[in-house]
Amino acid sequence: PRRVGILTGGGDSPGLNAVIRAVTKSLILDRGAEVVGFVDGFAGMVEKQSRPLSLRDVSGILTLGGTILGTSNKANPFAYHLRGNADVSAEAVRYARDELRLDAVVAIGGDGTMSIAHRLQQAGIPMVGVPKTIDNDLMYTDRTFGFDTAVAIATEAIDRLHTTAQSHHRVMILETMGRYAGWIALYAGVAGGADVILIPEMEYDIEEVARVCRAREQGGQRYTLVCVAEGAKPIGGQHAIRQVVADSPDPLRLGGICGVLEQQLTQRLTSEVRRTMLGHVQRGGTPTHAFDRTLATAFGAYAAALVADGQYGRMVATQGGRLTSVAIADVANRQRLVSSDAPMVAAALAVGTSFGVKDV
Ligand code: F6P
Repeated sequence: PRRVGILTGGGDSPGLNAVIRAVTKSLILDRGAEVVGFVDGFAGMVEKQSRPLSLRDVSGILTLGGTILGTSNKANPFAYHLRGNADVSAEAVRYARDELRLDAVVAIGGDGTMSIAHRLQQAGIPMVGVPKTIDNDLMYTDRTFGFDTAVAIATEAIDRLHTTAQSHHRVMILETMGRYAGWIALYAGVAGGADVILIPEMEYDIEEVARVCRAREQGGQRYTLVCVAEGAKPIGGQHAIRQVVADSPDPLRLGGICGVLEQQLTQRLTSEVRRTMLGHVQRGGTPTHAFDRTLATAFGAYAAALVADGQYGRMVATQGGRLTSVAIADVANRQRLVSSDAPMVAAALAVGTSFGVKDV
């Protein structure tokens, strides 16, 4: 391939720039190709916003958070948000293939980006995918880059909450991101030694969570650390959450599952309960040294090799410690959730962590 496009789609994830750098350097240095970056993900393909990427452009960005290209989690050429959700994919294809004369496009993104990449491949643009999301929930890859960084930030938060929880004999709740998956809460919870980990994959029984807090108090450990994934739900799901909102003296204060949980526990315990929502802090800043930086660099170099070999319609993946590729079509619009027999769930249970359910 002589000319290759690259874009970052969906929410940002620490390591995006490391991938952009690796893809660009590898294509230019090893293959003598030219690289063009689309601005703001698929929006750039529709709006004809792109810029050439030289070795100089990607120099010094390995450690930078965010993405130098910009991203958008709304822009979809097949239902374009700025044109009444019209299908403008033909324009995007024309721009990429005919105007920019690209031989292939590398799309760095999550399940939504892979779904668009799959359709663009069908529409005639050779695509290669790179798996990105702090949520770690993409199918057929053991890891996505950005996850390790998010876990490190959440773990540090748990460490810090521990000392204040101990001092005040409080129940402290930390809410992590992760959307429909509990990977961040699970790994940070284990790394930070949380007493309770609540994930979307297992509906929690509030009575069980309260029992754990009380048992710790009675046993002389007068504090409890609860790590809850943003997607976690009590038994009864939305209905139960609506009930908590209806019972709340100040529903506006609830804001997220950590607020729901705070109210549920406050009603049941004598200890004071406090909550912290970590939010986008988990997505900002430099990728971890060295895990996410090395993973992102290896992913980028592998993506460049797939392009060079003409292996299109494939997404880079890591399975059992080896780099490989999987069909983008198989990854599109799907999620890999935590299963109750996951090794990290077993590790958590082995050290006495509760998942807020009687039997896992
Ligand atoms: O998918 C990454 C993620 O950070 C999720 O963990 C979270 O639910 C979502 O994106 C937040 O999206 P936004 O940045 O649009 O608020």
